[in-house]
Amino acid sequence: MAYTKRFDGRKFDEVREMEAKVGIIKRANGSAMFRTGKTIAIAAVYGPRELFPAFLQDPKKGKLKCLYDLLSFSVTERKRPGPSRRSTEISMVTRDCLEPVLDLTKFAYTGLDVYIYITQADAGTRAAGINAASLALADAGIPMKDLISSIAVGKVSDKIVVDLDKEEEDHKDGATDLPIAMSVRTGKLTLLQMDGNMNQTEIKKALEMGKKACEQIKEVQVKALQAKYGGAGK
Ligand code: CDP
Repeated sequence: MAYTKRFDGRKFDEVREMEAKVGIIKRANGSAMFRTGKTIAIAAVYGPRELFPAFLQDPKKGKLKCLYDLLSFSVTERKRPGPSRRSTEISMVTRDCLEPVLDLTKFAYTGLDVYIYITQADAGTRAAGINAASLALADAGIPMKDLISSIAVGKVSDKIVVDLDKEEEDHKDGATDLPIAMSVRTGKLTLLQMDGNMNQTEIKKALEMGKKACEQIKEVQVKALQAKYGGAGK
């Protein structure tokens, strides 16, 4: 059966209600919260600080490490605490999608640790985590060419949609999840994954919708930075 109306009444290209805040963890060098609907991510940056073991030190630039974890109480079904294949994969793609906008050349030999915790999960957690991490890095004063903005687009039954929630991901006709991350300033994608099936035309449409959503996310991110630091910077 065709998916004519979204479960929560949103338009097909409409993101969930979003909220962001920076400076939520005072002891960290930088921190942020990003929420989309019922999905909440917090991120904290520690460093640049001395990197151990020393053989990992790079004399040319600082080393970025990201650690993503979906907390056990964030989901309704039991989830074993601690690392998993899923969290290892998300930590890696998060690092790879943030690194292109960072200038770590001033931080040779040091390490920069970004911790990302999902406190409430309703799909789209990697995107929310990336949005929070990007803000936390900016809050830590790390030189950045741009923020990274991220969203999951995809297909629910026969419709291309933006920002799927868990109910949509579990649609009985099937769903495809296509998380992206990008620098809105350059238009360059730094993350592109797909779990499911979509043809070329559908992917193109999903990417167009995703790019528009990322522009909206960037506005939310910039407002959060302005709320702490003032100014009209973009
Ligand atoms: O969260 P994201 O969409 O980036 O990644 P996913 O691996 O596609 O997970 C989709 C959703 O499944 C999560 O956001 C959670 O809502 C849910 N999930 C869960 O309930 N229990 C887990 N152990 C993992 C994910």
